Amino acid sequence: MTDLRTLAREAAADHVGLGAFNVIQLEHATALVQGAERAGRPVVLQISQNAVKYHGALEPVLAATLAVARGASVPVVVHLDHAEDTDLIRRAVELGVHSVMYDGSHLDYEANVATTAEMVRFCHDAGVVVEAELGEVGGKDGVHAPGARTDPEEAAAFVGATGVDLLAVAVGSSHAMTTRDAVLDVELIGALADRLDVPLVLHGSSGVSDAGMQAAIAAGMTKINVSTHLNQVMTGAVRRVLEGENPPVDPRKWMAPARQAVADEVARLLSLYGAAATA
Ligand code: G3H
Ligand code: ZN
Repeated sequence: MTDLRTLAREAAADHVGLGAFNVIQLEHATALVQGAERAGRPVVLQISQNAVKYHGALEPVLAATLAVARGASVPVVVHLDHAEDTDLIRRAVELGVHSVMYDGSHLDYEANVATTAEMVRFCHDAGVVVEAELGEVGGKDGVHAPGARTDPEEAAAFVGATGVDLLAVAVGSSHAMTTRDAVLDVELIGALADRLDVPLVLHGSSGVSDAGMQAAIAAGMTKINVSTHLNQVMTGAVRRVLEGENPPVDPRKWMAPARQAVADEVARLLSLYGAAATA
């Protein structure tokens, strides 16, 4: 079975990026897999706690995403993203999710260590891979002040104390940016990659330019989380159809071009991440 720990370790060893994109509705999942198949690259389909809240339940969206993943011709991991609710993690594991992110980044260090370690024990017993976050990547509230930084020594202690498989770090990105002008601390990425023996995760990657991402991957960043940028692509395509002449009422008429646009951009991004070592 495909697992995030193995895929991320392989990507880190090859100095390439592993794309991780968020699923809100079924068309996201099918577009992401289509793009990954075209690029010939593995992909992570992630469902956030907020997306579960939007649907009102985990099971339908997770079952659909797992089914799309099973039909793929490239390795696909289905991941629970930004889970602060430990009961949601337990439920996702019961329902067959492949990996989870426990997000205790808003907690103080000791509480983050304690709950992350508890989730790692629970998930590892079930064969599920765990990502955690140290140093809060903000922006989900719409306020972009990407000043938080993860300290390499504290991060090494955190990884040792929790046994986590991947670590999300704060290096200058911020969630939900609609402009691609975030400035990453490439030197810090290098220091974290040197100090830690787990792959690094970049949240809030929508704000990073193609060149910025290539530099980040070359410095040691591995799992690249993108959501807002693909939502912009999707919504832009819908808008073009609905603002055109004779706007359709059948949702398939505006969802199909939106799905196509996301698949095209995913194929482009995954090719970029996969070529970072040779850029
Ligand atoms: O966990 C998901 C990512 O961090 C997505 O962030 O919407 O800013 O690309 P983004
Ligand atoms: Zn995130």
